[in-house]
Amino acid sequence: MKSASRPVRSKERFLVFGKPTIEEPEIAEVVDSLRKGWLGTGPKVARLERDFAAYKGAPQAVAVHSCTAALHLSLLAAGLQPGDEVITTPLTFCATVNAILHAGATPVLADVDRRTMNLDPARVEAALTPRTRALLPVHFAGRPCEMDALTDIARRKGLVLIEDCAHAIETEYHGQKAGRFGDFGCFSFYATKNMTTGEGGMVLTRDEEHAARLKVLALHGMSKDAWKRFSDEGYKHYQVVELGFKYNMMDLQAAIGLHQLPRLERWLARRESVWQAYDRAFAELPVELPAAPEPRTRHARHLYTLLVDEARAGLTRDGFLNAMTEQNIGVGVHYLAIPEHPYYRQRFGWRPEDFPHALEIGRRTVSLPLSAGLDDEDVADVIAAVESVLA
Ligand SMILES: Cc1ncc(COP(=O)(O)O)c(C=O)c1O
Repeated sequence: MKSASRPVRSKERFLVFGKPTIEEPEIAEVVDSLRKGWLGTGPKVARLERDFAAYKGAPQAVAVHSCTAALHLSLLAAGLQPGDEVITTPLTFCATVNAILHAGATPVLADVDRRTMNLDPARVEAALTPRTRALLPVHFAGRPCEMDALTDIARRKGLVLIEDCAHAIETEYHGQKAGRFGDFGCFSFYATKNMTTGEGGMVLTRDEEHAARLKVLALHGMSKDAWKRFSDEGYKHYQVVELGFKYNMMDLQAAIGLHQLPRLERWLARRESVWQAYDRAFAELPVELPAAPEPRTRHARHLYTLLVDEARAGLTRDGFLNAMTEQNIGVGVHYLAIPEHPYYRQRFGWRPEDFPHALEIGRRTVSLPLSAGLDDEDVADVIAAVESVLA
């Protein structure tokens, strides 16, 4: 490492990776919920569902507690049975694969395209078997997957298509919004995401029946609108109609999201300008920059991921991570490839080398801070830290 002895930032000003941007209106809205005493699922959740559906131009949106819950319930609502195979990417958060397992299905991995870091449709074709029932692409870092090819495979083979849009709230592909291609589109409002509710998630679906089923499954399998049973419309009995979960979103969470949603476009513009500043600053350094977005697409700029050229940098990826932390700049890794984790290796016998692109990316990648809340000084500090570590 070639960094100077004094870090770019002081310890007291450690730049937290993925820090959410919280402004006064959401604070006031949370306080309003606290004062009214309606904390659980209620009118604010219903409003967030309407507002999010309108933002995406979707007929139905169902709010849940997380994207993990959104994926799990979508897979159940799709009617998957034990032994059914779901093809997904090895370059994702463990939640994607865990949701498939919790739904009782079998995950099958197909490697990513080396440039886009998204599922490679040719690998998906090669992974199809008579047991394949669903495709679960992840729009990695906010870049849309090749949805023409993936929807074509799904249509030809009669597969359910579930999009993991955890990184892809603002993403578009050929004029259509991410989460609107599939039977289900699953979003995350976790604290680090492009908008947050603390923890939270949303499912988009075209189908009214699917939406109703998701709502029932999200609240213990209780009959529709059970959350209204404590309202002033007279006591309502509920009936448990199937085995469900406790995955409902709270009004306290929706209170935050209601005020984040209208700022998405402004925040995306800010992240685009940070992205361009990083691209300019790092062009000559021993790193590979994220590929430019494809024509007729909109990249949600959720993660700015560098690939460290260890030989040219004279530094390992983990050395880079540690050096940035010493500079008091928070960094992330998205992701160690799924087959690198012992649980999946032991359970499925997956070998990381069978997914060479995800393996290589996972071992070389570093994510830099990219929140809309970064000010110009923060961005300059990140750039100075990267330069001092790699120059
Ligand atoms: C690609 C991907 N899928 C799913 C999830 C799960 O989201 P949540 O934390 O809202 O359950 C995440 C969370 O980071 C993610 O990055």
